[in-house]
Amino acid sequence: MRQPVSGFSKKSKEQKIEWLLATYFNSASSVKEIIQQYYTSDVSLQQLHDDFIENAITNYYLPFGIAPNFLINGQLYTLPMVTEESSVVAAASNAAKFWLERGGFTAEVISTVKNGQVHIDFYGDANILVEFFEATKLKLIASLDTLQKNMKKRGGGLLDIELLDASATLEGYYQLHCTFETLDAMGANFINTCLEQLATTFTIESQNYKTFGLEKPKVVMSILSNYVPECLVRAEVHCKVEDLAQEHILGETFAKNFVRAINIAKSETRRAVTHNKGIMNGIDAVVLATGNDFRAVEAGVHAYAAKNGYYGSLTHATIEDGVFRFWIELPLALGTVGGLTSLHPLARFALQLLQNPSARELMQQVAVAGLAQNFAAIKSLVTVGIQKGHMKMHLMNILNQLGASSAEKEKARIYFKENSVSHSAVERFVEDLRS
Ligand code: MEV
Repeated sequence: MRQPVSGFSKKSKEQKIEWLLATYFNSASSVKEIIQQYYTSDVSLQQLHDDFIENAITNYYLPFGIAPNFLINGQLYTLPMVTEESSVVAAASNAAKFWLERGGFTAEVISTVKNGQVHIDFYGDANILVEFFEATKLKLIASLDTLQKNMKKRGGGLLDIELLDASATLEGYYQLHCTFETLDAMGANFINTCLEQLATTFTIESQNYKTFGLEKPKVVMSILSNYVPECLVRAEVHCKVEDLAQEHILGETFAKNFVRAINIAKSETRRAVTHNKGIMNGIDAVVLATGNDFRAVEAGVHAYAAKNGYYGSLTHATIEDGVFRFWIELPLALGTVGGLTSLHPLARFALQLLQNPSARELMQQVAVAGLAQNFAAIKSLVTVGIQKGHMKMHLMNILNQLGASSAEKEKARIYFKENSVSHSAVERFVEDLRS
């Protein structure tokens, strides 16, 4: 019977691995080999990785791909993409090339305001709380002076604090709703530090505010919100409908089918979720490559997709006066300084590849990645179907699963150029080669 382990985080990396092997793998040397195979030989780089999280035992690699030919606001970019899904980079590159020949992408930042809340319990007279807040607001703001000195110098910092009465939703529940401009930083640490200071000042001042009597407000918690509907970006492509003509399909037919597919995703949750998942294939890949927090982005984006009370598509498409227009609007809280962005050598490299963008520029590049990914998916879905391209890209994974040699892979690559890929078809092909 296994026993719980105590003081684990204090053990050395070697001790942790020994414990793991003895507890779960009968000390199998093959497991140790796999763990160590993924160490980098550069000792200080390995240490940097080990220091990112607690109890790191090895590195977990994902492919870092690049998708060239993205024309965004008249500038050509190559997007860095980290993903395990075979077809994502190929799809992005195809969409980039398609729109390169049709004027490229335009993108604009609509707003950059982030927010966080001090959550408060209060069961007394709401008018007294309002009175207290108004009398204390300047003190609350002043208590951030030291914390936000540098951010203020650069033009950012706290924008405003509002007292919100949410007691109709949850009895006794109020918020200090705080808004921030964090410039090129994603700002999570800055915002959380400010909120905790505000909470402290709020508590001290409320203790001294006699009018409350015994019914004093109590801070429950302070935390930023990953829902950032005031930190919005929009990306778009458009062209004449006839310019969408492709092999075997008229521009008009393609445009109509495309818009129909978008409208289905706007009106039906099951489709919308998959549709938006495809968008996130592009978004997450660039967010991850640049060392940004993809969970924060995911959570905020999906909440935004449900902002009208139902979950719908993040992209929109129209045909008006013979012009096809396709766009995305979504919230993205991203940073190009701080966090892993400058610490992880590959995140730093990804940002260099993107021409050292400001957070605003990165928002535009990431939004374009999402739009391009969605374009590629819908283009396939309403024409040849998704499996053709997807399985083509998945071919190497199947061959690797079957332990195919380089010669077998090359033969398979040629054969499956003309034939459709499925797991069983590849299996049969390899068996035939071997027999
Ligand atoms: C697969 O990862 C993503 C798609 O399912 C997206 C979509 O259906 O729009 C192809």
